[in-house]
Amino acid sequence: MPAWVLAVLIAIGGLAAVKLAFTASIVSVFPVTRGAMFHPSAAVRVKTFLDHVPMAAGALLFDIGCGDGRVLKAAAKRYAVRAVGFEVNPLAYLLALIRTLDMKSVEVRYGDFWKADLREADVVFCYLFPDVMKRLVVKLGAELKPGARVCSCNFPIPGWKPTETLFPESSLHGDPIYLYRFPGSCKPGA
Ligand SMILES: C[S@@+](CC[C@H](N)C(=O)[O-])C[C@H]1O[C@@H](n2cnc3c(N)ncnc32)[C@H](O)[C@@H]1O
Repeated sequence: MPAWVLAVLIAIGGLAAVKLAFTASIVSVFPVTRGAMFHPSAAVRVKTFLDHVPMAAGALLFDIGCGDGRVLKAAAKRYAVRAVGFEVNPLAYLLALIRTLDMKSVEVRYGDFWKADLREADVVFCYLFPDVMKRLVVKLGAELKPGARVCSCNFPIPGWKPTETLFPESSLHGDPIYLYRFPGSCKPGA
């Protein structure tokens, strides 16, 4: 068999293996994620979030379901915040660890964010799913400290009124990004 045919076969096999690992990592954690699967935010969306949510140096940012850690890294680089991410998908967790290896102020925790305590957070970032948001609103209401800000990508927090809704300038990635402030955003008539 010619060498180039072998090289093509190896490349196809490699791609298939990566795809299989990606799918398996998503399926294996489905009971926890409930459909909020690993789908990283586009760079333009991360930038839009950071442009509109300035953070003081040393503030604490949580990304609940941090994927490959891109939001954590971008926020820590731009604002010198402490950025903590929770991730249950083993592949995403590994990518987040690698991505943030050189960032001392970033911590990626392997595990379920429902078990995390959000009381210390100054900013909570999430890109989850509507079904998950219904449950998340209860946790946020019970744990957030006054003044904490929340950013939710694509899906609003049910019953809360955003302080701002952002639409990134992108034909592909222009879905809304909702910003909130606790507790103002969740008061009736807010
Ligand atoms: C749509 S991705 C967003 C990733 C990242 N926040 C971003 O914007 O690039 C949602 C991530 O949340 C993770 N996730 C969902 N439910 C989780 C849970 N209960 N605990 C930890 N991670 C969770 C998924 O594995 C997935 O990687």
